Amino acid sequence: MTALDIDYVRLQFPALADGFAYLDNAGGSAVLKPVAERISQYLLNHAVQLGASYGPSQQAGAKVLEARASVAQLINAVHPEECVMGGSTTHLLQILARAIAPSIQPGDEIIVTHSDHEANIGPWQRLCAERGATLKVWSVDVDSLELELADLDTLLSANTRVLAMTHASNILGSVNPVAEVARRVHAVGGKLVVDAVAYAPHRLVDVQASGADYYVFSFYKVFGPHFAVLWGKRELLLALPSLNHFFIGQDVIPYKLQPGNLNYELSYGCIGISDYLQDIGTRLGSQGTARQVMQAAFDAFEVQENLLAETLLAYLREAHGVRIIGKPRVTAGDRVPTISFVVDGVQSEAIVRQVDTARIGIRFGDFYARHLIEALGLAPQGGVVRVSIAHYNTLDEMTRLVDCLDRAIAQLRRS
Ligand SMILES: Cc1ncc(COP(=O)(O)O)c(C=O)c1O
Repeated sequence: MTALDIDYVRLQFPALADGFAYLDNAGGSAVLKPVAERISQYLLNHAVQLGASYGPSQQAGAKVLEARASVAQLINAVHPEECVMGGSTTHLLQILARAIAPSIQPGDEIIVTHSDHEANIGPWQRLCAERGATLKVWSVDVDSLELELADLDTLLSANTRVLAMTHASNILGSVNPVAEVARRVHAVGGKLVVDAVAYAPHRLVDVQASGADYYVFSFYKVFGPHFAVLWGKRELLLALPSLNHFFIGQDVIPYKLQPGNLNYELSYGCIGISDYLQDIGTRLGSQGTARQVMQAAFDAFEVQENLLAETLLAYLREAHGVRIIGKPRVTAGDRVPTISFVVDGVQSEAIVRQVDTARIGIRFGDFYARHLIEALGLAPQGGVVRVSIAHYNTLDEMTRLVDCLDRAIAQLRRS
């Protein structure tokens, strides 16, 4: 297998040509040219309302279905209609919680983690308050900074209905063992809801292997547009009530959970993500099924990402006064290159402001994982400094960042 051709990769992302080092990819990634081209193609050639009997409407409808089938393949869904499309992960998780609400009774229990983005906490907390259910919190161990399975075991009970967790933390970068969690939740009769927003840019999603019952992420973090998918097991989706008009019945999936028109052009644009992954996998010499070819692309991304992540982590491990908030090393498969740190006695904002001036985009704050930042006592410091790497970043960019951080940290610690 040959290595990733980084020059070719970067050509597929026109925004990268401006020389700015984009290292806030967990906030939003660069967008692929094939994605933008498909969106424009759809808008310019197929912008008619779907569902009519005339030819162009039928053709446009076929394009939107093609998009859903492409997303289904990208995530390894069994049936394309298991893919509920929507504007954002936040929106889709609110839809899901609303649809699950009628089945929750007083005495039922829902478990959330305190390391998730608020998108996968708040809806469950509100649902518990509305339905008289109990909210339990699975907290990261303050020493290991991991969600420990032993702690989960003390929370699970015969009353557990839902466990909501993240596949990878958008602060810690750790990949959580969702398949093992799924086994434990299913053993007590509960359902697992997984937020994969911080995971999907770095590993090929496989909803079946994840063990989850519901699985959601946003395409604007995965080289696509502001659009998202919520996957649910077919039989579970069918059991949910319709949130759509009264004449859209319970059996009409996914439409019953997509009230209003979908964004057709953004759906169609998402095919460009798979186009790209298959192009890269093929160039790397892979000749298998579409998913095997996409897996080859992600394998090469992981090698590149780990190299860049280790460059930064090696610096941070040695730098005076720096504390990495997460695993200090790239370990086998269980860390994505989203790297957070704080510097003793220095506001995180001050560091980022200095880096801004070097045409490098990183970020500070709580990244809407507010409970985690508060639990770790990092709120007074303005949260963490976060560097989030994508496979299209370069070693040169990491060297520039490390030089810049070194100067900023030395100066701010003196002042
Ligand atoms: C881990 C995680 N979950 C959920 C979200 C929310 O995604 P969206 O903006 O699509 O609602 C984000 C956004 O940053 C995130 O990082």
